[in-house]
Amino acid sequence: MYNALKGIEDILPPDIYVWQKIESYAKKMFQIYGFQEIRLPIIESTDIFRRSIGENTDIVEKEMYTFPDKAGRSITMRPEGTAPAVRCFIEHKLYELPAPQKFFYTGPMFRYERPQKGRFRQFYQIGAEAFGVPQPSLDTEVIAMLYGFLDGIGLKEVNFEINSIGCEKCRPDYKDALLSLFSDRLEGFCTDCQRRYHTNPLRILDCKVEKCIELRKGAPIVTEYLCDECKTHFHDLLSLLQAMKIPYTLNPNLVRGLDYYTGTTFEVTSEHLGSQKAVAAGGRYDRLVEEFGGPATPAIGFAIGMERLVALIKELSEEKVPSPRVFIATLGKEAEMEGFMIAKDLRSNGIWVEPNYGGASLKSQLRRADRIGAEFAFIIGENELKAGKIQWKNMKNGTQGELEAKGIMDIINSGNKDTV
Ligand code: HAM
Repeated sequence: MYNALKGIEDILPPDIYVWQKIESYAKKMFQIYGFQEIRLPIIESTDIFRRSIGENTDIVEKEMYTFPDKAGRSITMRPEGTAPAVRCFIEHKLYELPAPQKFFYTGPMFRYERPQKGRFRQFYQIGAEAFGVPQPSLDTEVIAMLYGFLDGIGLKEVNFEINSIGCEKCRPDYKDALLSLFSDRLEGFCTDCQRRYHTNPLRILDCKVEKCIELRKGAPIVTEYLCDECKTHFHDLLSLLQAMKIPYTLNPNLVRGLDYYTGTTFEVTSEHLGSQKAVAAGGRYDRLVEEFGGPATPAIGFAIGMERLVALIKELSEEKVPSPRVFIATLGKEAEMEGFMIAKDLRSNGIWVEPNYGGASLKSQLRRADRIGAEFAFIIGENELKAGKIQWKNMKNGTQGELEAKGIMDIINSGNKDTV
């Protein structure tokens, strides 16, 4: 017997209906905000992730599925979608379109993390990226879209955490302030943070290890180190969010685990998720397009973690699983053929029909109709065939009756539920 790989899951009914509902609602939302779909490859050259996410991040250091292809090139299964979106943006000169250029993508991402609740090695994201506008109005719009989407899909109890981590001008000062504060207590930190001290000191701020939380108390706050430009941007963004009645919490420790961010960062968290509590996250990455060799283009985006969103929706709301409208029970070969003809007619009118595939007794056919949740059962035996009639039974309330086989679509179209 074979099993799926560790941390990699099949997605089956009835959960799949929650997935489909989320995906179709997201597409509607993207359309009204003017985000167009792009389909990005699952594999890319390793370099694009190294350069964007950063050499010294957990993702690049420990979590990428990287392998040489047959020609010896280093290939990586995408751990996220922003770097591929930027590669695509430049490759197809999408910057020549009128700004802002707004795109979304959906699909699997791969990270070799330790699997646990809400954390998988293959997981799905719905991502959105908007390019070409530096003003905070674009940040606001992107956040408003995410907020509207989560609210509309039924998540009322999420926290919007927001921060600004500054730009290449002001961040070095902040880094220096952190380094000088932590230098005399370095030994007390976990080994990861000791390493981060040299490679990426901001990441010390979101370490979850108890002793590191204790040791970083009193650390300077990033927003107090912002340059005038970053400060104004952040201030204007918060004012716009307030004006749009989008509730948020300031979280100065929100530094994100990917190196490409500049300025605005945000995360949507829920206490219902346990330790992996971010259901969506994103921020600005104003330097990345240029770093990838494109024209200087500011950008902002986010990604929603599908598994976590599905888990929340399942916990917070009762989902209706779709079921057939009609089951056709038949007795005998001829009746079965008639049943198939009727099924064909009904299906060509968009009605979900399950026919009988021969053999079974009427009792067991009706049991099947019940188990698959059919709304109505049609019964066709020898007598019905001769008389050109169909017996029908409402499987939910037990009412039953007889109807003309010929006029069946008229009856269905009349919308009279009791008589099918
Ligand atoms: P991220 O924070 O790495 O950001 O991932 C975004 C979301 O994907 C997380 O908040 C979480 O819901 C989900 N996620 C991440 N890793 C896993 C995992 N191992 N298992 C299950 N779910 C997971 C990014 O990926 C950025 N590309 C977001 C972005 C887009 N920033 C700007 N544009």
